[in-house]
Order: sequence, then structure tokens, then C-alpha cells
Amino acid sequence: MKYYDKLIFELSKPGRTGYSLPDSFDAAQQQLPFGNRASKLACSPTPCAPFQGDVSLTGGTVRGGTASEAQRWGPTKSDVSEGQAAVSSIVWREAPLELPEVSEVDVVRHYTNLSQMNFGVDTGFYPLGSCTMKYNPKINEEIANMPAFTGLHPLQPESTTQGALAIYVGMDKALAAITGMKHFTFLPCAGAHGELTGLMLMREYHMSRGDLARTKVIVPDSAHGTNPASAAVCGLEIVVVKSRENGLVDVEALKPLLGPDIAGIMMTNPNTLGLFERDIKEIAELVHACGGLLYYDGANMNPLLGMVRPGDMGFDIMHLNLHKTFSTPHGGGGPGSGPVGVSDKVVPFLHIPRVSGFHGNFGIILRAYAYILMLGREHIKMAGKLATLGANYIKESLKDCYKLPIPTVCKHEFVFDGLLEPNGVSTLDVAKRLLDYGFHAPTIYFPLLFHQAIMIEPTETESLETLDAFIAVMRQIAEEAKADPEMLHAAPHNTPIGRPDETTAARQPVLKYE
Ligand SMILES: Cc1ncc(COP(=O)(O)O)c(C=O)c1O
Repeated sequence: MKYYDKLIFELSKPGRTGYSLPDSFDAAQQQLPFGNRASKLACSPTPCAPFQGDVSLTGGTVRGGTASEAQRWGPTKSDVSEGQAAVSSIVWREAPLELPEVSEVDVVRHYTNLSQMNFGVDTGFYPLGSCTMKYNPKINEEIANMPAFTGLHPLQPESTTQGALAIYVGMDKALAAITGMKHFTFLPCAGAHGELTGLMLMREYHMSRGDLARTKVIVPDSAHGTNPASAAVCGLEIVVVKSRENGLVDVEALKPLLGPDIAGIMMTNPNTLGLFERDIKEIAELVHACGGLLYYDGANMNPLLGMVRPGDMGFDIMHLNLHKTFSTPHGGGGPGSGPVGVSDKVVPFLHIPRVSGFHGNFGIILRAYAYILMLGREHIKMAGKLATLGANYIKESLKDCYKLPIPTVCKHEFVFDGLLEPNGVSTLDVAKRLLDYGFHAPTIYFPLLFHQAIMIEPTETESLETLDAFIAVMRQIAEEAKADPEMLHAAPHNTPIGRPDETTAARQPVLKYE
């Protein structure tokens, strides 16, 4: 382990500070917003740079002199007046925070090293299937960082936020044009959140018609796991429709499932195998004829941009993943945005339910809007075409080394089912070995239809040279599997962390330093 790979707490030495400010430091008279003070102080220069003098908080002042405990560690309940403590009893700490005491250089080295252990679209090729990890244009960041936007407060009077509201209107129109839906709500903050919102709208629609028996939703066996999960959270019963050998929904198997208890069907098109559901028109007619609605999971919208619209395919409700198709960053679990669009007949229910505060993730919507305007009507069509071309190029270049269960032309992504000559080497071994070569692993073991699934989605923002380099490495790994399977079982060899126990790490994460 390198010295600076230690935890920040392990680098701590009592009494050490990052830097200190002169006694007369004007900013010591800071007005910190009420309600934010605890976190503000915890991540303010304290304790690395203790506030000198009095720290003025909205609603009171913490008396401090020079570098008192309250200044170094943030005020606790005992540092403030009785009245203050009573008013805001929830936010005051009972005991001082135990923060690490480190020098500036330790802080910089620690966090710089930490940032370099991460893998992102800015550091390398990220072919994560079902995720559309496309490059996040930096112009979007600049726009989202403009003070006119960052300084906005959601409770400002509407008369002062007309510019921001105009962006929502512009985005609503742009997404309506791209998808063929009538209007969108921007409240949902992720794809799965959009699914839940869309299903709640579906339920509202049926309830408004007194159609209370529609308690089931049909989900294909190839669906993303969030589809049945969202349906279950919404209180709907899930009915699975199976796919045919060619990976598409089996229309004959669908027919007997349709009836007066069906609220609708959830579909992804192209589906999670990267295949366009060619029977979608017939499926839409069948579902509508039985009184159900069609929900479109738009996480796979990238290859269809500017080419085909879910509204024209017959879908009534849909979500988009702005953090996929529209190039906004995928943070570690957020922030995202999953706007939900609806056709005419669902418009009256659009703002029921209200699923998040204010108007969703404005900064993300802004970035996505910048992306759409930057590409414009004509160029946006290129995104899907190039993504499709890239996926087919990789697929065809590797199918003599990796098992291709569905050999047809794909859209933006496709699935291999392990190595053609595995020699005991699993999909997990291949994925781990890719990390040694500086590529992020593709999605593995999903979709569940294949036991050794390797799902690859290159996205349109990758050059031919990058795709060729990835192909060469995948071929190299196939050779290594034949020659030295043990070496692959032990991969990765060059990353800061090898093979952690991922299940324990996910189920029992250790998030505290003690
Ligand atoms: C097909 C599909 N649907 C839904 C989702 C859920 O989106 P989110 O992760 O934003 O909740 C994903 C995410 O990977 C997906 O690939």
C-alpha cells in the first residue's frame, strides 16, 4: 500500500491544521444559511483553518476568540444560547465532531490519489451495457456552472426565475419532438424513479375511468430489473411474457395474458439485448384493444434519437434517462434525471403524483438541454447511427473469440455469452482482466437470459482507434484464457484493489472510521 492510500483519519495527527487565517479575516463574519450551518461548518475551513474571531450564524453568533473547540470542530448544543438550541434542537450536535487533523499537503495528496483510483468516462473507455456511458461534454458543465443558474433558489418568486422556467419549457418541447409524447414532467430523479412515476400515472388513468380491476402489468423476461421492481413498488402484480429464440417478445405468448385485469405493458425498445422489437405496432394494438396502456422504458433511447419515436410506436407513457441518452454525468448513484413523457390521454394526470421536491434535478436538465441544442435536429440523428455502427463493429470483430447467442444486427449494444473456448475462464475473469488493460468492464451477468453474459455498449463518442484497441485487448484476453487461465482467475493485477468480496461490500459496507 502506498503511504497516501491510507484513510484520511490514519494520516491525522492531533493539533495539525491545513492552514490558518489572519485574526482580522473579514470572512469570519460569515452569514451562513440557517439549517445548513452544521454541514457548512463541517466542510468549511474548520478544522484545517479554524475560524478566527466570531462566527456569525443566522439567528445567532458563536463566540470564539481564537481557535476554540467550537471553532475547530463546529459548534455543539452547549456552545449556543438556550433559545437557539431549543429552536433548532435537531441540527445542533450533542458532542464535537471527531474530524481528522491534517496538513494541507496531506489533504491534497490524499484526495488527489483517491480521485485517481476511480474510473470514469473522462479517464477511459467505458463500454457498460444498458448504461450509455457517453462522454459528458464540458461545455454543458460550463453552462450549468453559470452563476445565473447556480445562484437560483427553488423558493424564489416565479417572477425572478423566468429564465429557468423557459428552459423547462424548451426542454419539454425538445423531448416532445424527439419522442412523440405530448408533455413531460421533470420531477423524477432517475430512470427507476421515472418508471415508478409513469406506473403511478398509469394507475391514475385507469382509476379516473373507474377501471379498478386493472392491477397487473406485463413485463418481458428480457426486461431490466428495475421494471418489475418499480411495478411491485407501485402495488401492481407482475406478469412475465417470454421472449422467442431470436430475443424478441413472443406475440403469441402475449395474447393469452391480455384481459380486463391488465393495466399495461412495460417495454424497452431496443430491448436489453440491443434488439429492436419489430412487432411493436402489433403489440401496441393488442394491448390497447384490451384497455391497457404501453409504458416505454427509454433507457435505451440512444440508437433511436431522431430516427423513430416511441409515441409513433404506440406508447402512452415513457421515461428518458437524461444521464444516459442526453450525455449528463452518471454520478455514483446520482444525480440523474428521468423525465416522464405522456401522450394526450395521460396529460391530465401529469402532475399527479408529485414524486420529488420542486422541479427535479435542474442542473442535469440544463446540461441535457445544452446537449440537445448543441447537436440540433440534424446532428442528433448521428448519435444513434454511430452508436449502432460501433456496437456492430465490435460484435463482428470478436464473434470468432466470444460466443454470440443472437447473431443478428444489433442496435447500440449487444450480448456475448462468455468465451468460445472458455478453458474454465468465466465472464467475471474477462471483466477483471480488462481493468488491467485500462478499460472499464462491460456489464456482466445481465441480461439474465444468458449465464455468462457480457453486454457491450460502446456509445457514439468513441473513436475507431479506441474501438480497435478494445477489440485487440478482448482478443488478447481470449488467447490468455487458453494459455494461462490461472492468471485470469487472479486478475486484476494492476489496480489498487483486486477482487473485493463484492456481496459483503454491498450488504455490509463499512462507512465509518472507528
Ligand atoms: C433498460 C433500463 N431501464 C431502466 C434503468 C434504470 O435507470 P436508473 O439507473 O437511472 O434508475 C436502466 C439502468 O441501467 C436500464 O438500463
